[in-house]
Amino acid sequence: MVKPSIIAIDGPAASGKSTLGERLAQRIGYLFFDTGILYRAVTWAALQKLGRVDQEDEVSALSEEVNIDVRPPSITDGRSADVCINGVDITWDIRSSDVDANVSQVSAYPRVRQAMTRLQRRIGQRGGVVMVGRDIGTVVFPEAELKIYLVATVEERARRRYHELTARGEIAEYDQILASLRWRDAYDSGRKLAPLRPAEDAIILDSEGLTIEQVVERALELIEKA
Ligand code: CDP
Repeated sequence: MVKPSIIAIDGPAASGKSTLGERLAQRIGYLFFDTGILYRAVTWAALQKLGRVDQEDEVSALSEEVNIDVRPPSITDGRSADVCINGVDITWDIRSSDVDANVSQVSAYPRVRQAMTRLQRRIGQRGGVVMVGRDIGTVVFPEAELKIYLVATVEERARRRYHELTARGEIAEYDQILASLRWRDAYDSGRKLAPLRPAEDAIILDSEGLTIEQVVERALELIEKA
């Protein structure tokens, strides 16, 4: 079987993209890369340095000079990668509600997107990669041979994110998560540059009511057909 060289998985927040991407990559021996990490890391760095993210020029300049290091996991605590900035491990810090609340604004800045897109193309250019995000099939790799757009209702996604957070021992509130996902999806879909939407040739995969394994099996069937 000749596999597609690049597999793009896009979709709204907490739709299970990362879980699917990671397992799929493992099954077919591909590199898994979650592009949300990059936007989250820039947001974290901006909050650290500036305390806010509304200064577009400063945040953009930061995104162009910051050195985000993504490596295979050194600890087995549920992480899919080590994420470091200047040697500081920020793997879990980038999942905070503070980053959640600010990442969409940062991701809408054109220079930030340009810098992150350049990085993603460099990582994906050799092929053999499952790349996950919002605009992989539409902007980063429009030539990808397989594009999956993963969906589920916002309530189901909020339930999943709630369980994810509480399983890590964090305090979480379902209603707050639901509101935050709704807000982030609206912001990501409404932005001018690289908005969240399925590519014309993307295959919509609805994960509602399916187990992770069932979603992975469906995706494997799509790879065979691609
Ligand atoms: O895991 P979750 O679905 O909550 O979010 P994520 O994939 O880590 O992405 C966090 C945020 O980064 C999104 O809400 C988008 O604003 C932004 N993002 C983006 O604009 N483009 C991407 N390719 C990936 C993420």
